[in-house]
Amino acid sequence: MRTPVFEATELFVRGVGETTDIVEKEMYTFADKGERSMTLRPEWTAPVVRAMLEHQMLAQGPQRLYYVGPIFRYERPQKGRYRQSHQFGVECTGYVDAEADAEVISLAWELVRSCGIGDAVLKINSIGDAVCRPRYRQALLEHFAPNVAALSEDAQRRVERNPLRLLDSKEERDAPFVASAPAFDAYLCDGCREHFATLRAALSLIDIPYVVDPRVVRGLDYYTRTVFEIESRALGAQSAVCGGGRYDGLVASLGGPDVPAVGFALGIERFLMVLAAAQSAVQVPREGIQAVALGTQARATLLAIVAELRRSMVPAFMDYEERKLLAHLKIADRNRARFALIVGSEELASGEAILRDLESRTDTRLPLAQPRVVAASLVEACS
Ligand code: HAM
Repeated sequence: MRTPVFEATELFVRGVGETTDIVEKEMYTFADKGERSMTLRPEWTAPVVRAMLEHQMLAQGPQRLYYVGPIFRYERPQKGRYRQSHQFGVECTGYVDAEADAEVISLAWELVRSCGIGDAVLKINSIGDAVCRPRYRQALLEHFAPNVAALSEDAQRRVERNPLRLLDSKEERDAPFVASAPAFDAYLCDGCREHFATLRAALSLIDIPYVVDPRVVRGLDYYTRTVFEIESRALGAQSAVCGGGRYDGLVASLGGPDVPAVGFALGIERFLMVLAAAQSAVQVPREGIQAVALGTQARATLLAIVAELRRSMVPAFMDYEERKLLAHLKIADRNRARFALIVGSEELASGEAILRDLESRTDTRLPLAQPRVVAASLVEACS
């Protein structure tokens, strides 16, 4: 899915929720020339649902969609938290049962695991639905209200408006009250309890390790039942590389039919940070050919060969400056080229180029025939 970078502010206020950090303080909102309030996309789920409704996609049965692109949040920039960042995400609509949650979670998990991120932890929780959440909200209110003066400023603000969010407070002042707060587990209605049990069984069945963490409540209002995050220690304070969950009420609340949905988004910058920490020792494999031209005439000869290589989809690099051989070979290393194809005046005279294997550092000679013929033999060397 591709959606516009900015949309009507109302979409995010209604979709993400008025009492969320995103809507309260993180949106880049501006009035356009027609005095309409517009907002730079702070997340993808609400716009994707809006687009699905606009294009009647939900009438065509269950949908499995993905997106990649920028989001904007006015947050305090720090390691792993940027005002413009990028998300990869998936949204799956039309399935009410927990197998869909397991499918979406497994996609996120396999993505993180296949990249060798060893310390990743999958945390799941259920935050109930319209039936049981009001009861739990009331229990939290009763728990926090008597101690409101001792809580952090943020927590004080949230107690009345969104007490669930207190549970993921990182403030030391809130910690003792959070630790003694009632867990949702005791308040889940039968439907939500069963859904969560099915999810846990499905995750075990498909061999995905998880921990149940009652403190995972997520910062967006549209979630129902399943919520989850994947964390890595490599990220420090901003430990979530990916987050998501079920949002059975969002489609209807944006004016659509009663269609359940579940999805996640992964922060690409954070993903690259954990990747770098996990794979710091791994070198990018060498691939393709660096054409090394020594002199103007050699440059013309190699230009034609490089064009043929590119037509054959072989990665080919060429530098157009007069340099010494050593300087060219340094560039080849920087490009992680597998071979250097070297042509100077001697090679032109003898009709044979030098093909240097940059891994084994050995040379072979290659007849300087028609560019297409040279490229064909290089394609073979590269395969
Ligand atoms: P979110 O937890 O707000 O969820 O964001 C998902 C991921 O995006 C985070 O775990 C993080 O990796 C990354 N991210 C968010 N804000 C920033 C930032 N300022 N700088 C760097 N990375 C950031 C959502 O956005 C939901 N729409 C996910 C979802 C999809 N739920 C259901 N479907």
